[in-house]
Amino acid sequence: MFETLPGFRDFPPEACSRRNHLFRVFRTVARAFDFKEYDAPVLEPLELYVEKSGEEIVGQLFHFEDKGERKVALRPELTPSLARMVASCANSLAKPIKWFNVGEHFRYERPQKGRGRSFYQFNADLLGEPGILADAELIALLVAILETLGLHSDLFSVRLSDRTTWVHFLDSMGVTEEQRPGVLDAIDKSERRKPEQTQEALEKAVPGKGGELWARICEIKSIDSIESLTAQLEQCGENGEARAEEWRGLIAHLEAHGVMPAIQIDLSIVRGLAYYTGFVYEVFEKTGEGRALAGGGRYDHLVKKLSGNVDMPAAGFAIGDMTLADCLESNGLLPSYVTAPDVFVIAGENLQHEALALASRTRKGGFATSYSLKQSGFGKQFKDAGKSGARYALIIGEDESADGMVTIKDLRSGGEDRIKQADLLSQLEGLDEEGGISRPE
Ligand code: HAM
Repeated sequence: MFETLPGFRDFPPEACSRRNHLFRVFRTVARAFDFKEYDAPVLEPLELYVEKSGEEIVGQLFHFEDKGERKVALRPELTPSLARMVASCANSLAKPIKWFNVGEHFRYERPQKGRGRSFYQFNADLLGEPGILADAELIALLVAILETLGLHSDLFSVRLSDRTTWVHFLDSMGVTEEQRPGVLDAIDKSERRKPEQTQEALEKAVPGKGGELWARICEIKSIDSIESLTAQLEQCGENGEARAEEWRGLIAHLEAHGVMPAIQIDLSIVRGLAYYTGFVYEVFEKTGEGRALAGGGRYDHLVKKLSGNVDMPAAGFAIGDMTLADCLESNGLLPSYVTAPDVFVIAGENLQHEALALASRTRKGGFATSYSLKQSGFGKQFKDAGKSGARYALIIGEDESADGMVTIKDLRSGGEDRIKQADLLSQLEGLDEEGGISRPE
């Protein structure tokens, strides 16, 4: 017996319809925010991710050499492909660029709850706009998607942080530009490590100052209000004051979008990916359980880094399907889908071809139609109709055939009606309007 590879999933129809439910909401809400759908290859040059995405992701790449001796990798994320694509046609694109994608990604992680080696992400990115209105637009889209899926803001929080703020704080602590990446990495990992381990990592990044840095970092990580955050930033000189103003502006925009109930200021979020430059965020369940549902932020230098000549500010986020589905499921928010046909055609002896012609007409009319694939008597066909879950049976027996009629039987109530075959589609449309037909998704 073959099994799926560890961390990969099969999607039989019910699982597929659940997945499609998420995809449908992603697409509908993204379009409401006027984002356009795009796509990129799943296989990319390995080089695209090395150094750009950061150590953690590079360690998780599925990569190999193709027959042309090219080093290639399955995409672990979409952001580098997007930056490359936008840079290659930057001049012809109207700004701002608001694009989204729903697609599969691959990371060689240890499979566990909420984490697989193949998973889907919804990515939304806004390029060509450096201002905080863009950051606010993205966060508003993220919250709107979660709310449309039924998650109320008391079930999740967007933990909002800022890499620039960290730069100002670290500058004020005497951390140099060269020491900064090591310190940010230690802060990023501090949530998952014992304090002694973080202190050790900080000591390694800034020799002689590990303990002092850790004490101050803990103070900063505990900031949870805009007032205390801006007050502390304003002590970091002019740059700090300017950033405090940006924070106030962003919060005001988020307030106007109506999403502040979901926002939590939390500077413990730094984001593991190397390219982020400004406001960053991750979404978690309020219970604190599970891994992140989504993550993103501003990455103003990535397009330039990948293209060499196109400078374009950018920001975006991705929602993962696995943690999201787990969270929806545990809150009873994953609808179960009807995978039944709309109608089931039942044919009398020797009338199979008439039944097929009828099925062909209802299918062209947009009604999901099924019938028994084995020739059998009425009794067996009615059984098959019941098993299929169809609400209506279309019966074509000898009498109906002779008179150009068909019987529509409501399999739920048992009621039936004999109508002209010519009127079948309009009759079904009428039932559909009354809500009598449960459309499969
Ligand atoms: P990320 O935080 O690496 O960001 O991933 C975003 C989301 O994808 C995570 O919050 C999680 O839900 C899901 N995810 C990541 N890895 C796995 C996995 N192994 N199994 C299941 N789900 C996973 C990014 O990927 C950035 N490129 C997002 C972005 C877009 N930033 C700017 N634009």
